[in-house]
Amino acid sequence: MKLISNIVKRLQRRFFDTVTSGNLVYNTCWEDPRIDRELLNLNSSSKILMLTSAGDNALDYLLDDVRHIQCVDINPTQNALLELKKAIFKNGNYALLWDFFGKGRKTGAELIYRQQLRQFLPKQARKFWDKNIHNFSPTATKDSFYFSGTSGKVARTVFNQIHRKGLMQAVNNLLAADSLEEQAYYFHDIEPQLWNPFSEWLIRRHATMAMLGVPASQRKMIEQQYEDGLLEFIRKSLHQVFTELPIKDNYFWRVYLTGHYTPNCCPNYLREDYFQILRKRIHRIKTQTSSLLEALQKSNETYSHYVLLDHQDWMTFTQPDQLTNQWRQILNHAQSDARILFRSAMPEPDFLPDFVFDNIRFHPELTESLHKKDRVGTYESTHLATVL
Ligand SMILES: C[S@@+](CC[C@H](N)C(=O)[O-])C[C@H]1O[C@@H](n2cnc3c(N)ncnc32)[C@H](O)[C@@H]1O
Repeated sequence: MKLISNIVKRLQRRFFDTVTSGNLVYNTCWEDPRIDRELLNLNSSSKILMLTSAGDNALDYLLDDVRHIQCVDINPTQNALLELKKAIFKNGNYALLWDFFGKGRKTGAELIYRQQLRQFLPKQARKFWDKNIHNFSPTATKDSFYFSGTSGKVARTVFNQIHRKGLMQAVNNLLAADSLEEQAYYFHDIEPQLWNPFSEWLIRRHATMAMLGVPASQRKMIEQQYEDGLLEFIRKSLHQVFTELPIKDNYFWRVYLTGHYTPNCCPNYLREDYFQILRKRIHRIKTQTSSLLEALQKSNETYSHYVLLDHQDWMTFTQPDQLTNQWRQILNHAQSDARILFRSAMPEPDFLPDFVFDNIRFHPELTESLHKKDRVGTYESTHLATVL
């Protein structure tokens, strides 16, 4: 029995690695930079090392006039996405940025790409977009870039279900609600219809979670805390996001429920007022395709800030040695008082190697209250540490 369970685990891990190494998984960032900004205290001397994901949060931090942002991702497609955004800042205009990444579609995207953007991309990004730029061209079955990529395909399935059940008007009412009372009213109408044998089957599948970028280790963390596992966790998260926090500016859920942003509900990098500022500073963001550990091993730089997202959850059970080495490197490359920000599916960062706790100080007095305001709402905890 144990043998079979080990084989299943190995296959699940291989499947996850395959999905997340060659496909665009995150077409938008899934962490709330409004919370990050409160915690990071960025300024013109800040040098940040962070994971790329979709690059939105790096663009957000650039608004604080930081000196340098090194974006590292093991998945080359994630860096290709940030490079495409950079290319639009370099050689496009605001209308083009909004069409591509606000609306998620642009008729003639292929032509614009070839004429205006391709030459600004590094080779690896060019290779990816040569084959995938069509994802911005609207078609009868897919009218948004945000319904492409692996997480986008899951979003599309949910979107189709919402349509099929005639819930789109109720969802739009919910997203436009002016008060928590109004939100709760619409959400309670929608909620019972979200749960059915199909949605429960979809959530329980390892493949669905791999497409959303949730590895088995993170599922295990959730299952350790919730009796009914992922289903209970997702129910709780949805309830919190839609009934306890204002939804009007929650661009994270809006884009997956509708396929696009609106001018008043979008990431900061898509706001017209910021376009020229970001254009001037865009050269300060660099991308690098590598594991974080390798990037640090090869680097002679020191950093004032690290933004690790939730990627340590990916390593906890499967790569503990790498996690240990990574922390040695993080500390070696840290400037004095460097700030380290990360999120997790675990309530406490018990998974960190022991020596780390002797070298950093956590700030629950700052993170605990802010975590409750997180618009994404799918993490169990947010942690800020300063290097001693
Ligand atoms: C951990 S994921 C989580 C997504 C995230 N919560 C967000 O904001 O979208 C973020 C990115 O980290 C990358 N990643 C995971 N482990 C990594 C590692 N050891 N080194 C570099 N990148 C890694 C993934 O490819 C992914 O694009």
